[in-house]
Amino acid sequence: MTPTTSHDRPTPRVLVIGASGNTGRRISERLAASGVLVRAATRSRQAPEGAAEQVRFDWSDASTHGPALQGVDRMYLIAPAAVEDPDSIMLPFIDEALARGVRRVVLLSSSAIPEGAPGLGTVHQALRERAPEWTVLQPSWFMQNLLGTHHLHGKSLEEHGTVTTATGDGRVGFVDVLDIAEVAARALADAQPHDTAHHLTGPEALSYDDIASILTRATGQPKRHVRVSRDDSARLMVEGGIPERYAALLARMEDAIAHGAEARLTPTVERVTGRPPRSFQALVRASLQR
Ligand SMILES: NC(=O)c1ccc[n+]([C@@H]2O[C@H](COP(=O)([O-])OP(=O)(O)OC[C@H]3O[C@@H](n4cnc5c(N)ncnc54)[C@H](OP(=O)(O)O)[C@@H]3O)[C@@H](O)[C@H]2O)c1
Repeated sequence: MTPTTSHDRPTPRVLVIGASGNTGRRISERLAASGVLVRAATRSRQAPEGAAEQVRFDWSDASTHGPALQGVDRMYLIAPAAVEDPDSIMLPFIDEALARGVRRVVLLSSSAIPEGAPGLGTVHQALRERAPEWTVLQPSWFMQNLLGTHHLHGKSLEEHGTVTTATGDGRVGFVDVLDIAEVAARALADAQPHDTAHHLTGPEALSYDDIASILTRATGQPKRHVRVSRDDSARLMVEGGIPERYAALLARMEDAIAHGAEARLTPTVERVTGRPPRSFQALVRASLQR
């Protein structure tokens, strides 16, 4: 039976794929805090705080898909990690979800992937055409790539004081993952579906040189952007453990950044959440205080 709130409006049950990751963990916490029933899907790691339920979910194990969808109304989707053509895995799952009664789907895509493009762009198009209620999030690059050690850039900055890219002087509207999570939580929980693609950026477009300067000032330790060619960037990513074809895709995106593809800013975070997006400087300051 669908649980209800005290106002007798059914409380949605939201399946969160990637619930232990950057966005999924923050979305789960945000939804749980606002009283939404969160079913956290992970392969092994612990469920985020506040999740009502946890299920094992593995994109590469179809036997985990049906049980994860049981009784679910809405879901947050991220692609299987480091796969160049995730649509072949995601589209059958989406069809199964819609057939089982899922009404609303919120997909994490990327500012660099237009609707209809191979991979996530194809998933984007399918959702717009098939899902009764849908939102596609198209964030720019995550600020969190540059902090901590879970991403190659953050790890390199921490261990060697360098970030190596083929982006040249190109600027990026880096966005805080917390702002993405806030928009996603609204898209999942709002009474009215958003039924649109949200292009999400932070408040300023920064080059990797700017990033290095901000980190140098904030930490008091020298940080530097090392410029390399697209091929060298792809090679370094592969050496860092990224699969070859996915590394080639990321390196092509860096080249596009060098040519201005990510320099734009959007007002979407503030329009959806009612508050301006956090700057990189403010995020760094907050992370150093923790
Ligand atoms: N980084 C950026 O700058 C950026 C910018 C725009 C868009 N994006 C998009 O963001 C997405 C990544 O999102 P994120 O940062 O929130 O995730 P993340 O932190 O990279 O975490 C990946 C999550 O997926 C789960 N996972 C990995 N392989 C899985 C599998 N085979 N089956 C089921 N779950 C699996 C992992 O959990 P378990 O290991 O517990 O299962 C983890 O929770 C990518 O699609 C990327 O294209 C990234």
